[in-house]
Amino acid sequence: MKAQRLDGKGLARDRRQQLVSRVERLRTQGSIPRLSVILPSQDEAALAYYHAKVHAAGKLGIEVNSFVPDPLSTACIVDLIRSLSGDTGVSGIMVESPIPTRIDMKAVRTALPVAKDVDGAGIESLGHLLSGKPAFPPATAAAALALAEMACDIAGKHAVVIGRSLVVGRPLALLLLARDATVTVCHSKTRDLAEIARMADILFVAVGRPGFVTGDMVNPGAVVIDVGTNWVDGKLVGDVDAGTVESIARALSPVPGGVGPMTTTLLLEHVVQAAEAAVG
Ligand SMILES: NC(=O)c1ccc[n+]([C@@H]2O[C@H](COP(=O)([O-])OP(=O)(O)OC[C@H]3O[C@@H](n4cnc5c(N)ncnc54)[C@H](OP(=O)(O)O)[C@@H]3O)[C@@H](O)[C@H]2O)c1
Repeated sequence: MKAQRLDGKGLARDRRQQLVSRVERLRTQGSIPRLSVILPSQDEAALAYYHAKVHAAGKLGIEVNSFVPDPLSTACIVDLIRSLSGDTGVSGIMVESPIPTRIDMKAVRTALPVAKDVDGAGIESLGHLLSGKPAFPPATAAAALALAEMACDIAGKHAVVIGRSLVVGRPLALLLLARDATVTVCHSKTRDLAEIARMADILFVAVGRPGFVTGDMVNPGAVVIDVGTNWVDGKLVGDVDAGTVESIARALSPVPGGVGPMTTTLLLEHVVQAAEAAVG
């Protein structure tokens, strides 16, 4: 039997619909939810991600502005974050990926204030996530979790996360633990990866390699969440080889149309939530 296709696009549409009245209420209170995006890179992917946010936000009445650090330096990005932190007209702040390697991400993450860190990238937000204090989780990790929740209850399940980045794998592991999953995190040094992956009730794949997970790595009946976004010959593909996995898994999130649309939507939800908290 073919795996259930987890429709992230449809879920995102429903969740965005619920935001409309919240944004309207904020506007009647004189507050415009506003996301400030710092763009350290002008490459095609960064601009595409940025424009996707502007497009989705515009339909909901959320404003998105971009800030290009000039000169492109860690100090300039940190200064921008500080100035946006003190601006009461700004609800949320994020730094768009990809971020050039010469930027000191530790300094950038340290500068992000928890109340406006709508993509959960800051050191303080990650600490809150670890200790169970309120903070916005990274939108991609939260989106991957939301997709899995479309297919099953998380509590008690064995979740295997392939990838341990601060953006996806690690925060996702924390979110899963908070939902009472038993969590295994795999990475590039993991031995017997296929064997571990086959033990998963829910398999999350965030590696950044097209077709990395194949059908022989999947437990029959597992839920598979593909976080990967890779461009191959001008086409967006995930980290999961859907062709071999969809006859083994019970449910599979597609790429495109899975985690991606939910990531944008959850980011915008966080912006609205931050604006609501600021209004009080
Ligand atoms: N849909 C969205 O909105 C969204 C948002 C963000 C990212 N993504 C996508 O998600 C994917 C992962 O992103 P990321 O930022 O987490 O990437 P990343 O920072 O490059 O991390 C990749 C992870 O994969 C692990 N890995 C690499 N090769 C491996 C192997 N052979 N076996 C097992 N693990 C391996 C790495 O292990 P080590 O730690 O040992 O190096 C690392 O932990 C990418 O395709 C990215 O484009 C999608």
